[in-house]
Amino acid sequence: MKIKIIILFLALTFVFITAFIFLAVYSTEGDINNLDIIKSFVTSIGICIILMIVNRKGLLSLIKKTSKINLTKNYIFKSERLGFRNWNADDLTEFAKLNADEGVMEHFPKTLTELETTEFIVRLQKHYKEKKYTYFVTEVLATGEFIGFIGMAYQDYKTEFTPATDIGWRLKQSAWGKGYATEGAKACLDFGFNNLNLDKIISTCTLNNTKSAHVMAKIGMKKVGTFNHPKLKDYPDYETCICYEVMKVDFK
Ligand SMILES: CC(C)(COP(=O)(O)OP(=O)(O)OC[C@H]1O[C@@H](n2cnc3c(N)ncnc32)[C@H](O)[C@@H]1OP(=O)(O)O)[C@@H](O)C(=O)NCCC(=O)NCCS
Repeated sequence: MKIKIIILFLALTFVFITAFIFLAVYSTEGDINNLDIIKSFVTSIGICIILMIVNRKGLLSLIKKTSKINLTKNYIFKSERLGFRNWNADDLTEFAKLNADEGVMEHFPKTLTELETTEFIVRLQKHYKEKKYTYFVTEVLATGEFIGFIGMAYQDYKTEFTPATDIGWRLKQSAWGKGYATEGAKACLDFGFNNLNLDKIISTCTLNNTKSAHVMAKIGMKKVGTFNHPKLKDYPDYETCICYEVMKVDFK
């Protein structure tokens, strides 16, 4: 990205130097000396710097566009507005912020520490390595902004609905209310059924998590029952969960 800006700067400088030398040659009727060249050179660089300052917005948009190209390279798949990829160490800061937000974690027994988030990322990376899917890092294509995760994970805790692959989501609050969860979840179901060849995908949430259940219904999943989540048995307020599912044959 920086190299492109430097090339642009050098190209502009070259154009101006050539133009000034040309003018100098004419104005001195061919009698050009070193001082003229130095003056031309300094003036050219000055003009380029002024142009770069005046055209700050244009340069910023060039930087944005270039960085977007770099960022989109690693996406496993995309929806209209979102990109989905595996996790890397650079995601820790943003993901730790998300997991420490009490509003985001309202329907979970507790927020996560930075260490717990690190362990979570390691588990998600391992899951991707083994199954070729995970709760994917989800980013806005237009800006490259990290907004959280949407994706799938294999669940083998013991209930009448498992073992099964579930679909789940966790987005930062500034990304709520924009339809990202629904759009991303649809793209994940498509990936799950048509690329991974899964037959069935389930989704679960606590009884009070109406926002999440609303997403499940919007992406065409049907409620199949409630159950006591074995991993939440020490948290009576969160233990009762709803299960939704969708079969590949019913996915449109
Ligand atoms: C659950 C969660 C992902 C839902 O996010 P969300 O932004 O409310 O979900 P959606 O993507 O469906 O968007 C919701 C609203 O965006 C609005 N919206 C704005 N622009 C839109 C667009 N271009 N397309 C579609 N909807 C749009 C819609 O009005 C929609 O609401 P509606 O369906 O009632 O009309 C989010 O609340 C969250 O991350 N919660 C914390 C973590 C969590 O609980 N995860 C689930 C654990 S089981």
